[in-house]
Amino acid sequence: MDAMKKIIVCVKSRASQHQPSCAARGSEAIADQLEQLIINSKLAIQIERFKCLGCCEQGPNMRLAPFGKFYHQMTQDDLPSLMLELAALSK
Ligand code: FES
Repeated sequence: MDAMKKIIVCVKSRASQHQPSCAARGSEAIADQLEQLIINSKLAIQIERFKCLGCCEQGPNMRLAPFGKFYHQMTQDDLPSLMLELAALSK
């Protein structure tokens, strides 16, 4: 049986203003909103909050697992189109 598909959202926060982090750019609110959209849509996709995907300069970042596609500079406005992609994957 296939493992459940997952979207990983970076929610890492760094104390220094001089180092980029996804949380400093609003990723926690984006993760919360995405989680609610996934629940409301009853998609078979898990959301995982993760501490750093290694591309901090381009945050907020997300990554599909196990497929590996990255999403960079995500905003709440990007979530409707992301949801369409996730809906196609969860079938
Ligand atoms: S802080 Fe989000 S990718 Fe590093």
